[in-house]
Amino acid sequence: MSVPKAVRQRAGVLHKELHEHNYRYYVLDEPVISDAEYDRLLRELLDLEVHYPELITPDSPSQRVGAAPLKAFGEVRHEVRMLSLDNAFSDEELGEFDRRIRERLEVDAVDYAAEPKLDGLAVSLLYEDAVLTRAATRGDGVTGEDITANVRTIASIPLRLTGRGIPAILEVRGEVYISHRGFERLNRQAMSSGQKPFVNPRNAAAGSLRQLDPKVTAARPLEFYCYGVGRVAGGVLPDRHSDILARLRKWHLRVYEGIGRVHGLAGCMAYYRKLEKTRTALPFEIDGVVFKVDRLDQQEILGFVARAPRWAIARKFPAQEEQTRVTGIDVQVGRTGALTPVARLDPVFVGGVTVTNATLHNEDEVHRKDVRVGDTVIIRRAGDVIPEVVSVIRKKRPKGARVFHLPKQCPVCGSAVERIEGEAVARCSGGLFCPAQRREAIKHFASRRAMDIDGLGDKLVEQLVEKGLIQDVSDLYQLEVEEIAGLERMARKSATNLVEALEKSEATTLERFIYALGIREVGEATARVLAEEFGELEPLMNADVETLQAVRDVGPVVAQHITGFFSEPHNREVIQRLRRAGLHWETVEPAGPRPLAGKTFVLTGTLSMPRSELKARLQAAGARVSGSVSKKTDYVVAGADPGSKYDKAQALGIEILDEAACLKLLK
Ligand code: IVH
Repeated sequence: MSVPKAVRQRAGVLHKELHEHNYRYYVLDEPVISDAEYDRLLRELLDLEVHYPELITPDSPSQRVGAAPLKAFGEVRHEVRMLSLDNAFSDEELGEFDRRIRERLEVDAVDYAAEPKLDGLAVSLLYEDAVLTRAATRGDGVTGEDITANVRTIASIPLRLTGRGIPAILEVRGEVYISHRGFERLNRQAMSSGQKPFVNPRNAAAGSLRQLDPKVTAARPLEFYCYGVGRVAGGVLPDRHSDILARLRKWHLRVYEGIGRVHGLAGCMAYYRKLEKTRTALPFEIDGVVFKVDRLDQQEILGFVARAPRWAIARKFPAQEEQTRVTGIDVQVGRTGALTPVARLDPVFVGGVTVTNATLHNEDEVHRKDVRVGDTVIIRRAGDVIPEVVSVIRKKRPKGARVFHLPKQCPVCGSAVERIEGEAVARCSGGLFCPAQRREAIKHFASRRAMDIDGLGDKLVEQLVEKGLIQDVSDLYQLEVEEIAGLERMARKSATNLVEALEKSEATTLERFIYALGIREVGEATARVLAEEFGELEPLMNADVETLQAVRDVGPVVAQHITGFFSEPHNREVIQRLRRAGLHWETVEPAGPRPLAGKTFVLTGTLSMPRSELKARLQAAGARVSGSVSKKTDYVVAGADPGSKYDKAQALGIEILDEAACLKLLK
């Protein structure tokens, strides 16, 4: 059956539109139509293809859904070898790399392209006349596996490139990976369907790409960034690596925005430090920075040795995962009485520090991961996050490794341990009679975001409690210089400073004080709302559950925690003693009417007042101000020259206000 012209044309239009929306959604992260609208277009195309199978081309947007399962992967020979990278584990090694390059090139300084080293899997994508025709794994660098059907399901990989000057043969190389969020979602799904969770995003990505059934791959949250090219014919590319990447981006390939061009070793170091700092905030896992000599003519002079180019290096971050042995499992009691099993470890250098303890979160986690005393485990420390046990290396388990059980009595005060059904956490029922809870409550009270008592660190609090100098937070304000000066690592001067810091902390705000009390589930944000709603402490102390629940953001559980806390005579006494000791704050003006409560606003374009000011005014009226437009947005306020948020709002049918209309709403 031949395809009528009108149908062929319509299919062409749908291809174009779907590719464009796909690009906007997955590469630019700036969709302009709703998901439903996208689905409608795709369904229309699928319908046409069902009737006219000739329309199914390799670059059809319908091909992402996943082809029929394979029996085995075919082989692909890489015409241009897929190389590996040499590593530098220190600044000195990076310096050596730069010195070798300068010597070989006989220059004073070199320009480098600087890119994050994504922790995923290298893939090669072959575009012939702009259409993706083949995708392969790296394999041994010479021969890889044909994973075309799987790669087609990755939405951020264009099935067809767009733009001018695309070489007839263009092999693009890059990394397929899974973001942190994608990984968490994947593991949640795995666990809820009774499957074993993946160990890390890299393994999950590798496992997903090597699925014989592309439909399985299609359901995995794989993403892609490209970092270079392989074979190129029938066209020319720029003569600098960074310019090539910019060109690839123009053709709709996904290139990381934070890629830099730096000058000399100093430039490399600065880039490395910056990325090291922001590493944990990135949405994906990286294990270092790759520096590449930017000029291709210089790359050519340098050539390569064995399996790695001389012109590139991976400056690796300190390892975030290491192996060590569990020497014991202790139980720690937190501020709210929560019992946390903690693995004691043979010291191990991981993520830039020596780690001797790692959290096991709760009893269920210990059993799920099946961690036993004597086990060899993988420890992970990412950024400032508390080190945790990732998994056990079962092969290394010694005979008689002990299984852990949570104690029935609090290991600190001996009170009964309770675990509410449905909750993962078990708690000591001793409340503030438990010295551990008391100690943690005092640490929290003194902390920077609570009463901000300068110089009263964790160690000092522990000593004060241990020596019996303080029982609860109110005792802090009775401390004498002499008592403090007698403690370890304290002298008269530091003791005097502490007493002064305590005096200074007496003038505080109601919201800080409420937060400092350490009521369960009452964080800073809730403390602020409570301060605004009640204006003073007494009405809050006397509020019943119904009154509390009427407050924005306070649900039944939080309301129970609050009334429970204030109905405890001991807590009331401590508060009274604190006030007698001189703690004070200004009454908070009761919050005015909140006409915009529950409404979400997004601001875009140039306004006549600073954006922060309009934001503050909207928030004061109870509105939420968000940075991005979604189905949950109620209003978009558009100033002059609005950005893509405006288009998106229009596409989603969200009400758009100009500044004047917004101010009117505020009145
Ligand atoms: S370039 C010519 N750039 O690291 C060098 N590789 O250890 C070829 N990787 O197989 C690789 N991010 O899987 C390059 N920005 C980046 C990278 C990167 C991650 C991976 C890639 C490669 C491995 C080498």
